[in-house]
Amino acid sequence: MDLPVNITILGPGAVGSLWACYLQKAGHNVSLWTRNSIPSELPLSLSAKENSSYAFSCNNKESLSQCDLLFITVKAWQVESALLPLLPLLSKDTILLFMHNGMGAIDAIKDQISHHPILQATTTHGALKESSHKVKHTGMGHTVIGPFNSLGNQCQFIQEVLTHSLPSTEWNPEIKVALWKKLAINCAINPLTAIHRCQNGGLSQSDIHQDVVQVCCEVQQVLQQEEVILSQSELLLTVNQVISATAENYSSMNRDCFYQRKTEIDFITGFLLQKAKQHGISASTNQTLYNQIKQLEENFL
Ligand SMILES: NC(=O)c1ccc[n+]([C@@H]2O[C@H](COP(=O)([O-])OP(=O)(O)OC[C@H]3O[C@@H](n4cnc5c(N)ncnc54)[C@H](OP(=O)(O)O)[C@@H]3O)[C@@H](O)[C@H]2O)c1
Repeated sequence: MDLPVNITILGPGAVGSLWACYLQKAGHNVSLWTRNSIPSELPLSLSAKENSSYAFSCNNKESLSQCDLLFITVKAWQVESALLPLLPLLSKDTILLFMHNGMGAIDAIKDQISHHPILQATTTHGALKESSHKVKHTGMGHTVIGPFNSLGNQCQFIQEVLTHSLPSTEWNPEIKVALWKKLAINCAINPLTAIHRCQNGGLSQSDIHQDVVQVCCEVQQVLQQEEVILSQSELLLTVNQVISATAENYSSMNRDCFYQRKTEIDFITGFLLQKAKQHGISASTNQTLYNQIKQLEENFL
């Protein structure tokens, strides 16, 4: 990718800060949009192989109105409140790229944003915001990106922008399938690790693993109705591989519950349950886990 792209990152938390640093390092013009009015310049340092420091303009309306790409890295439940107030400030040509766990957040606002090219992405890169000025790249991963609407279909060049900045990234015209597969894994791992207060590896204990199997069974029935081709044994194999490859890690929902923060359950298990209901599928294990997480949230919110 030769031409620099004007990019605003909406929500420079862990993931947003990680991409901000790598995109700027690759030569793109990157600015940040935060929810607080903070100084107009924000330095961020990236601790990965090398320690590098970058300076970003912050909450700059001119940069926002001229951006080619608005890269939205807030959590699923923050998408609506973060993005809608900015819409009047954007050019209609601005590409909206959403990167968050879970599904359904874009559907909720699609009528308000359908005049923009829209892309969705999912990543397995790991990021940790160590302080307001410091982000750590905790694990190399892979990113999949694809179109949410037909205008988004014309924006495949964004895959090159991402892959030249933070490899590797692939374009998937069937991004929904990739998102469903990620959601299936999240349904199996996130609520159970939060409820049992364990690392991902804790799910291989036989008494907990029987719930993993049950969750996968219900999720696979929904996938089938959504025309996502993945057998129950393939799904369980993938989930077991993720559990063993990330045995020492804490899931994001485990961390959210540990720090008493609102979780993304409504966009993970909650989305699954909505779809199960539409298809007349009973998903009692997922429903129980959903209720337990909502109960935990009620206790600390
Ligand atoms: N971290 C990872 O390794 C990782 C990996 C893969 C996927 N994900 C997914 O990526 C998404 C982002 O995760 P994260 O870990 O980066 O979360 P995060 O650190 O909480 O980042 C979200 C950021 O959005 C900001 N924000 C919230 N509302 C906003 C608003 N109205 N306007 C502007 N900014 C706003 C938050 O600001 P405040 O700090 O003020 O709340 C925070 O800086 C989640 O869906 C997560 O599941 C994360």
